Amino acid sequence: MTPEKTPLIRIRDMSKSYQMGEVVVHALNGITLNVDPDEVTVILGPSGCGKTTLLNQIGGIDSPTSGSIRVNGNEIQDLSQRGLTRYRQESIGFVFQFFNLIPNLTARENVEFVLEYVMDLPSREVHRRAEELLGKVGLKGREDHYPFQLSGGEQQRVSIARALSKDPKILLADEPTGELDYITGKMILGLLASIASDGRGVLIVTHNKEIAKIAHHVVYLRDGRVLREEKNRNPMDIKDLEW
Ligand SMILES: Nc1ncnc2c1ncn2[C@@H]1O[C@H](COP(=O)(O)OP(=O)(O)OP(=O)(O)O)[C@@H](O)[C@H]1O
Ligand SMILES: [Mg+2]
Repeated sequence: MTPEKTPLIRIRDMSKSYQMGEVVVHALNGITLNVDPDEVTVILGPSGCGKTTLLNQIGGIDSPTSGSIRVNGNEIQDLSQRGLTRYRQESIGFVFQFFNLIPNLTARENVEFVLEYVMDLPSREVHRRAEELLGKVGLKGREDHYPFQLSGGEQQRVSIARALSKDPKILLADEPTGELDYITGKMILGLLASIASDGRGVLIVTHNKEIAKIAHHVVYLRDGRVLREEKNRNPMDIKDLEW
């Protein structure tokens, strides 16, 4: 028997509710799951099942109503405000469902911002890395466009370049191919999956069943609960995907 890996993310009985006036919305109900290093984990579920809510709790953007989330052995809820900021800046790369680009910065500046202020790199290196990353996501020639001058798919790719720029320990991606055609989508999935090595992990949430085929671990989410899981899968080669 192979020994169990130490999980990168360990979630136990985690719930999140929102009070909306008189009504309580139970977005997540007792989630228990592990995200292992060197793996692509895909959470698959329909609209409204709690995918974005789950990523927001893991990414330290929101905090659970109850339960535990440990990352690298540390309980996120025990972090100080400063610790939480450092965790978000240094450990997490977040590809947001609706991109969250800074509207008055160009594509290049959106990526450079992270390299400069979070990574604290010298300006020549900042410039070189931003250009390289934007090239990797297929945006050569679009570097100086503002978000409103980019298509939805191009904005999504800027957001992916920005998340990859930190070479994060944990990459959280929310419907990362939602705006992409399938050729660009496959290219982007290849880039995302390439992060899952050297102890790093990738967590993708999506409603697209095809994406689950590239995962080592698939978690089926319904109504804020884990319906079932498939672990130790043999991921399909990205070039063989069809959607
Ligand atoms: N800030 C909030 N306040 C109140 N309710 C919320 C909030 N965020 C999410 N919800 C509710 O929680 C449930 C889960 O929402 P969530 O955004 O996590 O779904 P999702 O799986 O990401 O859906 P989609 O695939 O459409 O993006 C929904 O019913 C939603 O209305
Ligand atoms: Mg969502």
